[in-house]
Amino acid sequence: MVWPKLRPAFLPRAWLLLWLATAALAAPALGQILLGEEARFRDAQQWSRVFDDPLRDRWQKPAQVIRALELKPGSRVADIGSATGYFAVRLARAVPKGRVFGVDIEPEMVRFLAERGKKEGLGNLTSIAGAPDDPKLPEAVDVMVLVDAYHHLSDRVGYLSKLRRYLRPGGRVAIIDHIDTPGGTLRSKRIAPRRIKDELRRAGYVVWREHAFLPMQYFVIFKPAPRKRAREIE
Ligand SMILES: C[S@@+](CC[C@H](N)C(=O)[O-])C[C@H]1O[C@@H](n2cnc3c(N)ncnc32)[C@H](O)[C@@H]1O
Repeated sequence: MVWPKLRPAFLPRAWLLLWLATAALAAPALGQILLGEEARFRDAQQWSRVFDDPLRDRWQKPAQVIRALELKPGSRVADIGSATGYFAVRLARAVPKGRVFGVDIEPEMVRFLAERGKKEGLGNLTSIAGAPDDPKLPEAVDVMVLVDAYHHLSDRVGYLSKLRRYLRPGGRVAIIDHIDTPGGTLRSKRIAPRRIKDELRRAGYVVWREHAFLPMQYFVIFKPAPRKRAREIE
């Protein structure tokens, strides 16, 4: 193979371009490593370029995910860890007579989603400032979704136990999180599906449906386990 002759003046520019391209691709992962958990999602504009990248649709398959949630036009839905609203805005369009609550703990994300909802004319979308241990929903919902958010919860069993009180009768909790594939969540933060199921069982849920169509994430929908009667528990 013959390498093209590079003129010396071209070299620094080539390196600069290469560096910029690498930095752009690595920015989210680098941010995760450098900033740590607490400061990760402050810059909503920057994260929007990652979360709302149109190329994401190819592997995230949002339309198929929303179909799998089996929503009704009047369903009430909570998107927990909604960030810039990739799912929240699509969910709001899927339930025109219902209501969607996008919950995040980062004030910038909460502001960003509120403005996005207004800009996109989604009167049924409400942006909520949650607490790390409580989504602070103003009313109970039919479906909750956590997309790449479950692994951010610190007391996962405690949080999920608390979520039960925000579920309407027949309600469900859908969890989508990264499996061991390139990109996305840091490898050290990933949680094996078996562990998620065990944690959800301890929080009082059983598996309702499991979907295998997402190439990089698992997708499990849970429903509350029937409460045991006092005599069964003894
Ligand atoms: C990787 S992002 C997920 C983005 C979004 N779900 C999507 O699919 O585009 C995780 C989000 O969860 C939020 N988060 C972390 N802990 C949370 C908690 N306890 N309650 C609500 N949101 C939380 C973060 O601030 C961040 O915006």
